[in-house]
Amino acid sequence: MRVCVVGTGYVGLTTGVSLAFLGHQVTCVDWDQNKVDMLAGGHCPIYEPGMDELLAEAAGNLTFTTSYAEAVPGADVVFVAVQTPSAADGSPDLRYLRAAAESVAQSLDHTFTVVVNKSTVPIGSGNWVDAILRDSFAQRTDRPAGCEFAVASNPEFLREGNAIHDTLFPDRIVIGSDNPRSLEVLNQLYRPIINQTFTAPSFSPRPDDIAAVPLVSTDLASAELIKYAANAFLALKISYVNEIGQLASKVGADITEVARGIGLDQRIGSRFLQPGVGWGGSCFGKDTAALIATAGEYNYDMPIVQAARDVNQRQRAIAVERLQDELRILKGRKIGLLGIAFKPNTDDLRDSPALDIAQLLLARGARVKLHDPVAADRFQREHPDLAPCLSETLDGLFDDCDAVVLVTEWAQYLELDWSKFVGLMRTPILLDGRHVLDADRMARLGYKYLAIAG
Ligand code: UGA
Repeated sequence: MRVCVVGTGYVGLTTGVSLAFLGHQVTCVDWDQNKVDMLAGGHCPIYEPGMDELLAEAAGNLTFTTSYAEAVPGADVVFVAVQTPSAADGSPDLRYLRAAAESVAQSLDHTFTVVVNKSTVPIGSGNWVDAILRDSFAQRTDRPAGCEFAVASNPEFLREGNAIHDTLFPDRIVIGSDNPRSLEVLNQLYRPIINQTFTAPSFSPRPDDIAAVPLVSTDLASAELIKYAANAFLALKISYVNEIGQLASKVGADITEVARGIGLDQRIGSRFLQPGVGWGGSCFGKDTAALIATAGEYNYDMPIVQAARDVNQRQRAIAVERLQDELRILKGRKIGLLGIAFKPNTDDLRDSPALDIAQLLLARGARVKLHDPVAADRFQREHPDLAPCLSETLDGLFDDCDAVVLVTEWAQYLELDWSKFVGLMRTPILLDGRHVLDADRMARLGYKYLAIAG
């Protein structure tokens, strides 16, 4: 099938490259000429394991352009995957979505085209995009006769750092539209994934336990709500384990054991029960805020979702309190933070716990150093205020440090030769912000091991 993808950010690029890999003819359109040139030259502008390889494998089916007129005509499906940044009140800023919908409408031809919202957009946006498309189309003087189009929602569930795996081997595919023909087109588009008929790329092998991928084919509003409800549930699962973790500290229980003990109940499930400094990234914070904002439009409170957000914010402050309890005085102390990205395998710094923890420590007079194996350059570009705190080397971070906090559980840190660094520290306090290090081993190596929770 012929596919156009508008926006080559995380979601758009992964969607476009994966669909091209599956054999569809894909044109990605982005207004950023530099990005388009880079991608056309086979270079991926984002850090995502496997993406360069997939880009190379899919190259024959993939074109990049800045022109809607080249990308949209003839497309069976147009995915709109533009950014929807948060406005000041927490609601998503939809100006890019509007601009994209207007541009798509200008280039539609007589092919039946399904215009798919792939960005995470507020509930009701499908209808809103439909109205924009129809208005913009009606204003055209060169309207092609017989042009037909319909709007659908196809939310994305991929995790950064696992984008290719999550796209090719998803737990489910959700498509929503009030137009049955659109659902049929999307069903056909995703057949290779639904039936798992493609040859898996060598760098992302097919999991042993995957059978046919369930397809949830539903109405527009339900598909839109599924996305928010899924992210909010995952966010509150993490906040729940973190809330229990603080109680575990008080009663003398081991949160890792508690999480294992509850996670083995299949009704609860073991994933997203990893305690620590909490969630960050571009999705959970933004989506929980947007869900609450949408509910507000209906005069409806969402105290559970709000509590998940509050607990998450509190976890960052708790990291600082743990250090203060131990060091008593934070002023003048040197604290090293291992990891700046919001999670491993990405250089994404949005809403990263490390940034808040650094700011809280600086506000209390501590001297802060941050290290990241991948996100250091981006950190310097995007956070010039904190850039002087960057430590390029681990030696520089540990040297004369009063405490080190593991904030992002990069494999490099888990495999570190910890024995080499302990002697560099002024006081060998190690706060494991992710509950991933072996406490006994760290103690044997001479660290005073602390965790966020009991
Ligand atoms: C999340 C969802 O997992 C995806 O399904 C969804 O498609 C995506 O948002 C989105 O809406 O686009 P992502 O933000 O990439 O994906 O990252 P996750 O792997 O979900 O991690 C989010 C945060 O939670 C990270 O900071 C991670 O460190 C933290 N986390 C995760 C925990 O603190 N504990 C856990 O047990 C799991």
